Amino acid sequence: MGKTYEITEHVYDVVVVGAGGAGLRATLGMTEAGLKTACITKVFPTRSHTVAAQGGVSAALGNINEDKWQWHMYDTVKGSDWLGDQDAIEYMCREAIPSVVELEHYGLPFSRTPEGKLYQRTFGGQTRNYGEGPVERACCAADRTGHAMLHTLYQQSLKHEAEFFIEYFAIDLIMDADGACRGVVAWNLDDGSIHVFRAHITVLATGGYGRAYFSCTSAHICTGDGNGMVARAGLPLEDMEFVQFHPTGIYGSGCLITEGARGEGAYLTNSEGERFMERYAPSAKDLASRDVVSRAITVEIREGRGVGENKDHVFLHLEHLDAEMLQHRLPGISETAKIFADVDVTREPIPVIPTVHYNMGGIPTNYHGEVLRPTDDDPDAICPDLMAIGECACVSVHGGNRLGTNSLLDIIVFGRAAAFRAGELIEKGRPQKPAPKDAADRALDRFDRLLNASGSLRTAEIRLDMQRTMQDNAAVFRTQEILEEGCRKIDQVWASLADIRLSDRSLIWNSDLVEALELENLMACAKTTMVSAEARKESRGAHAREDFSARDDENWMKHTLAYMDDKGRVRLAYRPVHKYTLTDEVDYIEPKERVY
Ligand code: FUM
Repeated sequence: MGKTYEITEHVYDVVVVGAGGAGLRATLGMTEAGLKTACITKVFPTRSHTVAAQGGVSAALGNINEDKWQWHMYDTVKGSDWLGDQDAIEYMCREAIPSVVELEHYGLPFSRTPEGKLYQRTFGGQTRNYGEGPVERACCAADRTGHAMLHTLYQQSLKHEAEFFIEYFAIDLIMDADGACRGVVAWNLDDGSIHVFRAHITVLATGGYGRAYFSCTSAHICTGDGNGMVARAGLPLEDMEFVQFHPTGIYGSGCLITEGARGEGAYLTNSEGERFMERYAPSAKDLASRDVVSRAITVEIREGRGVGENKDHVFLHLEHLDAEMLQHRLPGISETAKIFADVDVTREPIPVIPTVHYNMGGIPTNYHGEVLRPTDDDPDAICPDLMAIGECACVSVHGGNRLGTNSLLDIIVFGRAAAFRAGELIEKGRPQKPAPKDAADRALDRFDRLLNASGSLRTAEIRLDMQRTMQDNAAVFRTQEILEEGCRKIDQVWASLADIRLSDRSLIWNSDLVEALELENLMACAKTTMVSAEARKESRGAHAREDFSARDDENWMKHTLAYMDDKGRVRLAYRPVHKYTLTDEVDYIEPKERVY
C-alpha cells in the first residue's frame, strides 16, 4: 500500500450496506428490534434504484377478485421455471400479505378502489386458481410504486433513529480467519476519509448489476457492488446466467415502460400491425411471463417484422385506453414516453425493445437472508454474520425468471425477514467480536492501487468493452459459439483492467475512482455471468439456448455457484434446488411444461 490512511472506526449491532427498498426495510426492522443500526449508502437513500420501480408489489389480498397466496406461489414457481427454492417461495408468497399491509400502516400512499381498499392490477404470469387466467395481485401507487415505497421506508427509518452514512462507498468486507464477516470498509466521498464499520451482522443490500450491459433499465448506480465484495471474499455467486430482459424498454433510451401498462390493457404489435403475442402465448397473450414476451419480440424482429427504419423494435399501444385512466393509473410512463420517445400515449404507440432489467442471480442466501457458503457436506451451510437481501441476493425465489412485481415483494419480505433473524441472533449488550488487525488492508490495497493507476485505458473505455461484450454475447438468445466467444472477450476485458488509468488523485468527490471501483465490481458480475451461461447446456427461464432449446431437469435442475479468484478465473460448482416446501400447508409443485 502506497499511502497510509487514517481510519475512523464505528461499532454497531448491524451495518446495512445500501439504502434501496431492501436496505431500508431491513434498517427499519433492525431498529424496531432494538438493534443499533447503521445504513451506509453511496447515494442519498431516496435516489436508490428502487425509486424507479413502477408497476407494483404483489400480494394475494384478493381486493378485486378472489386470490390466494398458494396461487401466487404456484405462479412464482412456474415463472422461475422450477429453479426457485420452493421453501423460500412459500415464505415469500405467504409473508407478502402481512408485509404489504404493514407498508400501508407505515404510510405508503397506495392507489385505492372506489370503496377504499388497496387497488390491485394484473401483471404477467400472475394468475388465479393455478394458471386459469389473470388475477389482480399487484398493489401500486399509480406507476410510481418504488418511489412511494422508498420515501415511506426512509421516513420510518429516520423516525426509528437509524443512523445513515450517506455518500459513503463500501470498498470491501472485513472477513476474519474463521471466515466470518466482521464489517465493512468504506470511503466517505464528501471528505475523503476512510471508515471501518464493525458489527455483529453485516447486511448487503446493494442491488443488481444491470450496468454490466450496454442497454438496461437500471440506474448508473446499479454496479453489483455487494456481488463484487462477496466474490473478492472468496464466496460464490449463484445462478448468474439468469439475466432478465424486460419486454418494454423504450427503444433508444432503455427507460422502463411498466408491465402494468399491459396489465391495464396495453398490447404489442409488429410491422404488420399484428398482435403477435397471441401466437406465442395463446392464453396469457401480452401478459405472459417476461422471458416469453422478450423472446417473442426478439423472434419477430429477427424474422423481419420489426418496426421503424431498421425494423429493430416493436410497438406498445396505449392509445385505445381511456385518457383519464392513463392520467390516473399510468401518469409516470405517459410522461416518460413523451420525454424519451416524443410519444403522446393517447395518440400513438411507444417504440419498445427488450432491455436488461433484473438479475435473478446473486449472493446465495436462505430465506432468513443469511449468506450461504456451501460445502460438500452441507450445500446450505452459512457464512457467519453476513446477510444479503434484495436484488444482490439469490434466495432463490425467482429461479430462472422473475415475475413482475415480485421484486418489490422480495425486497420488503426479505428485508423484514433479515431483521427478524438478526433480532433472534444478536444478544443485546454482547460486545462485537474484534476485527482482525489487518482488517482494512485488503480493501485499502485495492483502493490505493486504483487511485494511483497509471496505465493507458480510461475506466469508461474498459467499461464500454465489457458492456458491449455482455450485450452481444449474453443476450436474450444464446449459443455455445456465442458464449465461448463471450468468455474469450470478457477475459480480454478483464486483462485490460491491469492497464487502467485514473487521472484524479484526490480523495474528495473523486468520481473517477468511484467508477473504477464500480467497474471492478461489475467485472466480477460480468465474468461469472458469462462463464455460468456457457456451462449451462439447457434452456430455462431467461437462459434461452438455441442449441439446447429444452429444459433438462434431469441434469440441470440445480443452482450454479461461481467462485472467482483474484486473477479473474472462475470455478463452477452446483447446489441442489430445494425440492420441498416450508410447511405442510402446501405440497411441492412438481415440474411440468411451462406454457402460458
Ligand atoms: O414493469 C414493471 O413495472 C416492473 C416491475 C418489476 O420489475 O417488478
